[in-house]
Amino acid sequence: MATALGLSLASAAVVFAQQPGAPQASPSNPELASPAIEQRVDALLSKMTLEEKLGQLVQYNDSGADAAAALAANPESHNNVNSMQLAEQGLLGSMLNTVGASRTNAFQRAAVEKSRLHIPLLFGADIIHGYRTIYPQPIGLAASFDPDLVQSVSHMSAEEATTAGIRWFYSPMVDISRDARWGRTTEGAGEDAYLGAAMARAYILGYQGKTLSDPESVAACVKHFAAYGAAEAGREYNTTDMSEIRLRQDYLPPYKAAIEAGAATVMSAFNALNGVPASANPFLLQTILRGEWGFDGLVVSDYTAIMELENHGIALTPAEATRKALLAGVDIDMMSHFYDTQLPELIRSGQVPMSVVDEAVRRVLRLKFALGLFEHPYARGTEVTAAVPAHRELVRRAAEESFVLLKNDSALPLTTETKKIALIGPLADNAAEMVGSWSGAPQLSDIVTVKQALETRTRQLGGSLTYAQGTTITGSSEDGFAAAVQAARQADVVVMALGESGAMSGEAGSRAYLDLPGNQEQLLKAVAATGKPVVLLVFSGRPLVLDWAATHVAAIMEVWFPGTEAGHAIADVLYGDVAPSGRLPMSFPRAVGQEPLYYNQFPTGRPPRNIDLSQPPGGNSRFFSRYIDVPNDALFPFGYGLTYTQFAYSMPTLSRSIVPLGEARQTGKDLIHATATVTNTGNRTATEVVQCYVRNRGASIEQPVRSLEGFRRVTLKPGESQKVTFDLGFPELSFYDAQGHSVVEATEYTVWIGGSSLASQEGQFKIE
Ligand code: BGC
Repeated sequence: MATALGLSLASAAVVFAQQPGAPQASPSNPELASPAIEQRVDALLSKMTLEEKLGQLVQYNDSGADAAAALAANPESHNNVNSMQLAEQGLLGSMLNTVGASRTNAFQRAAVEKSRLHIPLLFGADIIHGYRTIYPQPIGLAASFDPDLVQSVSHMSAEEATTAGIRWFYSPMVDISRDARWGRTTEGAGEDAYLGAAMARAYILGYQGKTLSDPESVAACVKHFAAYGAAEAGREYNTTDMSEIRLRQDYLPPYKAAIEAGAATVMSAFNALNGVPASANPFLLQTILRGEWGFDGLVVSDYTAIMELENHGIALTPAEATRKALLAGVDIDMMSHFYDTQLPELIRSGQVPMSVVDEAVRRVLRLKFALGLFEHPYARGTEVTAAVPAHRELVRRAAEESFVLLKNDSALPLTTETKKIALIGPLADNAAEMVGSWSGAPQLSDIVTVKQALETRTRQLGGSLTYAQGTTITGSSEDGFAAAVQAARQADVVVMALGESGAMSGEAGSRAYLDLPGNQEQLLKAVAATGKPVVLLVFSGRPLVLDWAATHVAAIMEVWFPGTEAGHAIADVLYGDVAPSGRLPMSFPRAVGQEPLYYNQFPTGRPPRNIDLSQPPGGNSRFFSRYIDVPNDALFPFGYGLTYTQFAYSMPTLSRSIVPLGEARQTGKDLIHATATVTNTGNRTATEVVQCYVRNRGASIEQPVRSLEGFRRVTLKPGESQKVTFDLGFPELSFYDAQGHSVVEATEYTVWIGGSSLASQEGQFKIE
């Protein structure tokens, strides 16, 4: 919704009882629970008027240099505040998406130098994949299966953005997405809870660094709590409805991992979950977040989410929306303009206890103290205004690790013998579209396009590059086809850069079709008809339907939106300087009608057998859980990705075949070790993502056909082998029962170790 960064921009006065039997967790972030900070909070709070307290609980954007004119032009806007004036009066606690050190410093001066109590503002922004130096979208980073890399790039972006005064990132988005139609798929780690949790942890460690008080650290904001990614039919802001078991097993783990890693803040989601909007949902915000997980940071609403409680139909007035949101546990009102206008009367009439307001204010002040904002309120150091040369190497590596080679009929890597290249497509020379949605504040001139990088390469290699755009991203004109076909005819190899625009994914970017947009597929067909080998680069923020391409072109590589170093990274991988190592964090469907599609589905009572779909359905083959017109499985499954060598796996071995039930119930203990040897059987050094999947059969609750429970990146030279061991304990082997408890039972387990969710070599053990 908000677009300030030039980005895609984009009842109960009851404290809900903790879940029975759930232990009260210890504080999630000790820095926010420090006694020294609490003393300072007490002292400050005791001096604050009600208005000043409420000011800390509202967040506005920069209403512009001429707020008065903007207000006069649009008095009805929810944005109808003069944020500068509020800052001067000490009636504003935080701001969102304020760009540039001069602007944040101007607001900060107003708050620190002019307001009565000199409380600094906290500036938050949607920096989700880089500030000035841009790396791939989170879906691309997830494809790296490399949490260390994610931690490094996250820290790098904090380092850059803090020079503009930003100390709070609305990131990571850890919403699990199993439906590629949902545009925000691009902002998360895909379909799997285990991978999502690993990524969530990495972002928090990167953003928050060793301590929040480090001027280069930013507070993370885990969003959107919760289950926003399960929006029905993949339609943005749509309702979500699911069992508590599914919620806990498949959707909550990444949020929980982020809280355990010390995330300082959480954003409540737009969606309703099982009929209760997440921004007024005591079960999510009290029972789970604060009760079970011991979260001691602050909760901010999503943009106007409190106002939207009226649209949801659970509040008839702004006052009711305010009361429900605050009592449920939302501390800061982002942009609804409700907490400041409604709470005075709600408190006066006793509908909202002052103690609840005070506790929310405390949470805001604790964070400001923990960040050291009272000591260092202004943007630090020299402002970073363009891509940082020293950061380019890291974002180039991040892009390279994010690419997933989906098909390769020996077309890649390109050799030095490949002299004439035709580069075709609307994304081949399109700097603006290399960054995707929520792209921080990049300078377009910093971005390296595919054309720029390949021109340099081909020149260095004594070859030549011919470029033809062919069509636009969503266009229907075929005027450019002839030149594209002509370029292809004269080339040794054709590289096609096709896909989505950044704005086609991200917030409010839901799609009902998942094909290449516009007439790009027709262009692809026209070029492929020349008979020249086609290497297809797919730019997208989500899985697309690539069924035609999968059978008609020589090579396909998913490159997401690679960021500042897009062209260089693509050239490195095309020419084999770097072997691709990304693996799919989300299943790529054969047809959009398969969505939601995910590998760790449930078996059903009628699992499909090996059915010949060329035969008409009927007889014994009909009555299975399947479609009559498309296979059930993904075109490219979760965990899948090729490289320029092959890997072979030994049969997994298990450290024992029986784990006694009593021992299995001990939560902190490794119970069994699963080991396989992986060997590079090809002739190039490359990195394999070794994956461990587990299935549990015989439990009282149906369990998925397999679930990822471990992964490791392993780089091997030709002929080299390595043993890889996964330690499986209670977290990996347990499941949720109907009461929301993690349990193990006397059941049978199958363990697979291999290179994708299709890994077929297995071992077995039992808990008994
Ligand atoms: C998005 C959030 C974002 C917020 C602030 C909302 O529209 O849903 O993810 O953090 O805007 O820009």
